[in-house]
Amino acid sequence: MFLAVLVVSLFAGVPLSNAWGTDGHYMVCKIAQSYLTSTASSAVLKLLPSSANGDLASMCSWADNVRTAYPWSSALHYIDTPDNLCTYSYSRDCHDSSGASGRCVVGAINNYTSQLKTYPSTTYNLTQALMFLSHFMGDVHQPLHVGFTTDAGGNGITVYWYNVQTNLHSVWDTKIIQTSESNYFGNDVNKMSDSIKANITSTQKSQWNSCGSTLAACADTFASESIQQACSYAYKDAPNGAHLSDTYYLSRKSVVNTRIAQGGVRLANFLNQIFV
Ligand SMILES: *[C@@H]1O[C@H](CO)[C@@H](O)[C@H](O)[C@H]1NC(C)=O
Ligand SMILES: *[C@@H]1O[C@H](CO)[C@@H](O)[C@H](O)[C@H]1NC(C)=O
Ligand SMILES: *[C@@H]1O[C@H](CO)[C@@H](O)[C@H](O)[C@H]1NC(C)=O
Repeated sequence: MFLAVLVVSLFAGVPLSNAWGTDGHYMVCKIAQSYLTSTASSAVLKLLPSSANGDLASMCSWADNVRTAYPWSSALHYIDTPDNLCTYSYSRDCHDSSGASGRCVVGAINNYTSQLKTYPSTTYNLTQALMFLSHFMGDVHQPLHVGFTTDAGGNGITVYWYNVQTNLHSVWDTKIIQTSESNYFGNDVNKMSDSIKANITSTQKSQWNSCGSTLAACADTFASESIQQACSYAYKDAPNGAHLSDTYYLSRKSVVNTRIAQGGVRLANFLNQIFV
């Protein structure tokens, strides 16, 4: 209960949020840290700020918390794709609203991946690079972080979640997750995270990591998957003014859980290939 209330209050009054909710990020990072090689694990522990106490998950929403302090980072959380096309292309879509190329979530994943490969050099602030990469790996897996331009990934679509007014982006950032936490996990994000992890098979892990010949190609794959799922599940049957409840929730919750699982497995794979 406490967590759910905390998440609601953090996001209330932020109509244009572009953040996979705090709990979504937490679970992606918690799952990822459990799959690190010992080399990657020790690099991560060295880079985490001391306030994290060695827990990557505790820092996975840092990038949302610095959006005001670092306004340049705002465009790095998402990708706007052409309305109704349901495809993503790096050269066409990875730019910010003023057209600057590479300024989108995939560009940011590539950027912070390259920076982290310089470890242990101190050319870049690799503590920030780790916290940005971990966050953006979550964002690129939230289907509506790769959404249509006009509705800003569902932010512009007003819906009612079990009769409470919100927007479609927020349903996918937080509402579906909160509803699952409340229905099945006693509002305990760690229980939900452990349960999602327990479902991951080794076949899935190797399929999910067969995403391209380079990490950059994989990042493109993750974005393409998201816009396809945005069309097949998020936008589908959720027009402006829609009342969403059990029918929508029950047919979408496993999509969300799978995206969290994939984000965790793939973040670990990136870190394991970065720190060798
Ligand atoms: C790359 O990282 C640097 C340092 O944080 C930042 O200034 C720059 O905006 C980033 N660019 C992208 C596309 O992520
Ligand atoms: C790197 O970034 C972290 C987090 O913002 C900050 O606490 C730290 O002081 C920075 N390190 C350097 C050397 O600037
Ligand atoms: C785990 O998988 C089972 C069987 O597919 C499914 O019913 C359950 O909802 C899954 N649990 C989570 C947390 O994803």
